[in-house]
Amino acid sequence: MSIPSFVIGIAGGTGAGKTTVARLVTENVGESVTRIPLDNYYEDLSHLDIEEREEVNYDHPSAFEWELLREHLRELLEGRAVDMPQYDFELHNRKDETVRVEPTDVIVLEGILALYDEAVNDMLDLRLYVETDADVRILRRIQRDVIDRGRDLEGVIDQYLSTVKPMHEQFIEPSKKHADLIIPEGANSVAVELLEEKIQAEANGGETRTWERLDAEGDAKDVN
Ligand code: C5P
Repeated sequence: MSIPSFVIGIAGGTGAGKTTVARLVTENVGESVTRIPLDNYYEDLSHLDIEEREEVNYDHPSAFEWELLREHLRELLEGRAVDMPQYDFELHNRKDETVRVEPTDVIVLEGILALYDEAVNDMLDLRLYVETDADVRILRRIQRDVIDRGRDLEGVIDQYLSTVKPMHEQFIEPSKKHADLIIPEGANSVAVELLEEKIQAEANGGETRTWERLDAEGDAKDVN
């Protein structure tokens, strides 16, 4: 069990390559790393039936349970484990089971709106926005949704035009202004190498920084 010393947020539109960047920048980091997909914090919609759940706008900030995400990040930052929800994209709902997540040296929060919420942003040490052309993103999205998420092509196109694209323009793209760094294209090797070095350096010597962050929030605990 450790107190996380470096917390990274990776945002960007659907299909931008956020997961690839998250994997590449952390795969050679010597310290333990936990990845937190924002998708796991979609609201529990068990009170709706499947047809109603299919109609939900999953690209609007209101689709996420921000309070639970903030609470889990706070817990991890203070060195306590959390039970992270899991998400089922075919059923459009949270799964019954959760996964126990222990605090690790490095934490990576990734998702379309990872840089949207002010309280979440305040807990991040490094904010990244992955910028990829919209045509590349929609092609990746079609491939993924049809092959991995059991969707039909017409439904994917309808959803893209009715919610994904407008919400991208209204909420996701503008969240870029909170980023410390904007990474062009998914697997930009120069950016990835620089980030790997930065993350490794921060993860090695981060304890003071966590203390500073907790102090700044006014809820420092005796973590030693
Ligand atoms: O992995 P990615 O960042 O693309 O995941 C976010 C996307 O998942 C959103 O653009 C949202 O439209 C989609 N989504 C979906 N069905 C759900 C939940 C999310 O298509 N039930």
